[in-house]
Amino acid sequence: MSPRWTGDRIGFGAEARSQWDLADELCFLNHGSFGAVPRALQVRATECRNAIEHNPVAGVWRDGSRAIRASAERVAAFLGSHPDRTGFVSNATNGINALLQSIPLDPGDEVLHLDHGYNAVWQTLVMTGRRRGIVPRKVEIPLPVRRADDWIEAVDRAITPRTRLLVLDQVTSPTALVLPTREIVEMAKAQGVETIVDGAHAPGMLDRPATSIGDPLAWTGNLHKWPCGLRGTAVLVVRADFADRIKPTVISHHLDQSFSAEFDWQGTFDPVPWILAGEAIDFMDRFGGWREVRRRNRELVIEAHAMLVERLGVEPISPLDGSSLGFMATLPLPDRLQPGNGGPPAPPSGPLQVLVDPVQDRLLDEHRIEIPVMHHGGRRLLRLSGHVYNEPSDYERLAEAVEAVAVD
Ligand SMILES: Cc1ncc(COP(=O)(O)O)c(C=O)c1O
Repeated sequence: MSPRWTGDRIGFGAEARSQWDLADELCFLNHGSFGAVPRALQVRATECRNAIEHNPVAGVWRDGSRAIRASAERVAAFLGSHPDRTGFVSNATNGINALLQSIPLDPGDEVLHLDHGYNAVWQTLVMTGRRRGIVPRKVEIPLPVRRADDWIEAVDRAITPRTRLLVLDQVTSPTALVLPTREIVEMAKAQGVETIVDGAHAPGMLDRPATSIGDPLAWTGNLHKWPCGLRGTAVLVVRADFADRIKPTVISHHLDQSFSAEFDWQGTFDPVPWILAGEAIDFMDRFGGWREVRRRNRELVIEAHAMLVERLGVEPISPLDGSSLGFMATLPLPDRLQPGNGGPPAPPSGPLQVLVDPVQDRLLDEHRIEIPVMHHGGRRLLRLSGHVYNEPSDYERLAEAVEAVAVD
């Protein structure tokens, strides 16, 4: 436990919320997109930046490099990864880009990605196709997903003799489902297909998410989502036999010295988010530690999901027992709000669709609820988040707001 974060235990819900600077009237149900930084960590960031300015060369480079490595070691222990093969990147997108630039692939090699995957990762695959001649292909997994085996069988069916690589979400983005990652990685490996695990949402939500997942080629995950790190904090972990082949997206001084040396220094930058990554992780000690936070957040989300499915009268996309849920849940909006069924038309497709959906805008403008409305399979889906500062009344407020938006 970091000595900085000792003190009386802070309760979940309203008491926890007092640790964040979220606007008073805002019902914040979208931790999943860009996280939310607690005030104490913002204060630490300011302290750190001020200290760096006493001697910028020491702060950024001499002491800064040591502090980054010490933080990487704390992060590795949290994730279940080897510290020498755990490197910081600015975000999961950067981690995926580094991997797709570095992994040996030949023109014509097929790379699979799920249709529940993250759009920016798909675009990276498209660009890799243009640069390197690989063939990106989407694996379709129809909704609802009722059993873990549905995922495994769908990926199994999609593998062809030309498939070389699978980019697999550990927790899907639009549909917020926790996948049977180890089983899929092992099934693919048995057919000669390597896997990159896109664990963007996994740190904090899952216990030691970079371990017990079947020895994939690499794993990447964000610390600026559920661990509440400063934005620009993510991690890339590689398997030992690839450690000298995977390079950062930006090459700097330490080419070929070691994985950690190459990733710890990627040119001059603000080292503070990475230096404070370990402290961000330890902040959850104030709420009883990560095990307790995981237990409570899941319970909160599973109950909110079941309540909303019943109140809104919709068909869930995953089992109501919550067996596929972590700190988020996605459910369809009522028919009345679906495109072509009386609801507003779908926004133009593209990476920013989530920011311009008219139902999402109404929930914020008229009800002060920040929650993403996703589009998947031609339908509008609502993705709710639950972190320590949320409480059951947030989801009651959401149910009332959706009902109100649906009637006029
Ligand atoms: C599955 C998945 N991959 C990648 C990302 C990209 O994360 P970032 O924007 O931090 O790079 C996200 C973001 O939500 C995601 O959900």
